[in-house]
Amino acid sequence: MDLADLTRDLEALRTEALAAVAAAPDAAALDGIELDVLGKKGRLTSVLRGIGALPAEDRPRVGAVANTVRAAIEAALADRGTTLRGSELEARLAAEALDVTTPGRPIRLGTLHPSIEAMREIASIFEQFGFVTHESPEIEDDLTNFQMLNIPPDHPARDLWDTLYVDVEGRLLRTHTSPGQIRVMQAETPPIRALLPGRCFRYEAIDASHGSEFFQVEGLMIDEGTTMADLKGLLEQFASAMYGADKRTRFRPGYYPFTEPSVAFDVECLVCGGSGCPACGRSGWMTILGAGMVHPVVLLSVGLDPERYQGFAFGMGPERIKMLKHGITDLRLFLENDLRFLEQFR
Ligand code: PHE
Repeated sequence: MDLADLTRDLEALRTEALAAVAAAPDAAALDGIELDVLGKKGRLTSVLRGIGALPAEDRPRVGAVANTVRAAIEAALADRGTTLRGSELEARLAAEALDVTTPGRPIRLGTLHPSIEAMREIASIFEQFGFVTHESPEIEDDLTNFQMLNIPPDHPARDLWDTLYVDVEGRLLRTHTSPGQIRVMQAETPPIRALLPGRCFRYEAIDASHGSEFFQVEGLMIDEGTTMADLKGLLEQFASAMYGADKRTRFRPGYYPFTEPSVAFDVECLVCGGSGCPACGRSGWMTILGAGMVHPVVLLSVGLDPERYQGFAFGMGPERIKMLKHGITDLRLFLENDLRFLEQFR
């Protein structure tokens, strides 16, 4: 084997490889040629194995020829590859014609849970009056859930809230969002306009209108010179935004230890319009929330001077608001996660 032989073999390989590339029917054939000629164990490598037998001064020349041969084959492969892949794509596009008139597959969209949706509706109304949403804890202490709200231990008013206790002394699952009032008043100085939505827990015998878990939205306003008239005006605005301006509303006396005076706020029955039906217990009215002027004892418990500051609070159940609006008669539906129920709120 001498310089001339090797050069001839390389030229022959080039001619053969270029012919094969030109004749390759598809991209897969090109990959085969590349592996066969240029691959690690390919034919170019095996021709070059003869290089060891050459005199040292001839070796660079063979190397130079081998490089031009390799470059020529690589260029031919790339060139033919572009052509072949282009026509393959065209052939595929022609074969797999897309029928743009076929109906699409519907995307299943989830929905907000009706309780969450109701709380957002409520918040968006009160936001317009400057109320800011706050969070407060679901696990409370007896002091905040009861005592600072003017409900001492052993007071008969505790019967209003059947309580679930946790394994830690003095800790319980909040029975209402009212302890959030205390936390906001401790954290901020008046004027305060706070909204506190959240989950509440009660040890209840469960029936169509009582659950052991439910949501409440608490409202609290504290300022100088706040009066019952402010409370009444705000709640009337709320009812008209939520149920329509044509709905009649009324305030009735109520009782809560942490407000004085306390009221219940009713809206005319949305089912019968006030004439009396089973949904409203034939009264023609539906109670949507409890409210009242913050009791001076509560203000004192957080270090506010009742001579200077007054305020009101209200608490409502978003599930109840949804039930009235949609004529839902069973509170338990809200916790059963039955899609047939949940999907109706779109
Ligand atoms: N916390 C009361 C309840 O759970 C509702 C309420 C809130 C009443 C604020 C008055 C003021 O029934």
